[in-house]
Amino acid sequence: SKLKIAVIVGSLSQQSINRKLGEGLAKLMQDQADFEFIDISRLPVYNRDFDNTPDFKPFEDLKPQIRGCDGVLFITPEYNRSIPASLKNVLDGLSRPYGQTVWAGIPAAIIGSSPGGAASAMAQQHLRNVLVSLDMPTMAQPEGFVRWSDTLLDADGHIGAASHGFLTKYMSKFLDWVQLHPKK
Ligand code: FNR
Repeated sequence: SKLKIAVIVGSLSQQSINRKLGEGLAKLMQDQADFEFIDISRLPVYNRDFDNTPDFKPFEDLKPQIRGCDGVLFITPEYNRSIPASLKNVLDGLSRPYGQTVWAGIPAAIIGSSPGGAASAMAQQHLRNVLVSLDMPTMAQPEGFVRWSDTLLDADGHIGAASHGFLTKYMSKFLDWVQLHPKK
């Protein structure tokens, strides 16, 4: 059966280039996998008091969606050389209560875009560090440093010709990675 991939876009912007990239990647691979975009836009800022508040569980409510997938694709913008708070927030919130993390053992990959020359590379390296702590086997190569330009996607939101080959290879390797690291 088809692989199921959860997509977490680190940007809440309505015009997010990283969301557009994610939608392009999902279209590119639609025959090989189903992609479920996780909505992190309504999450409050996590603190550990939530762990003891059974009537208020916005983070718990997201856990079944993550548990139901075979792998997670993180698409991160770069904010001041690191990941946005919105992305760190969902990682922290779903890692708790202590011992009830949703992340451990789920294969992952990191990609992201920025109009700048560094193409979100520094944010992606920070995220890699966090995913080690969360015990997510994360694909090392190829790296997904995607410099944004208006021709990255065509008018219909499909990946444009210039990046089609690279991004197809990136996504194929990721789906291979997911199959090589089945969740326990
Ligand atoms: C940025 N941007 C940015 N770009 C970059 O390459 N390195 C950086 O450190 C930063 N820092 C940064 C901080 C803040 C607060 C904002 C709002 C933006 C620019 C960023 O790459 C650009 O706004 C992208 O469009 C953000 O991704 P989304 O939200 O469009 O997916």
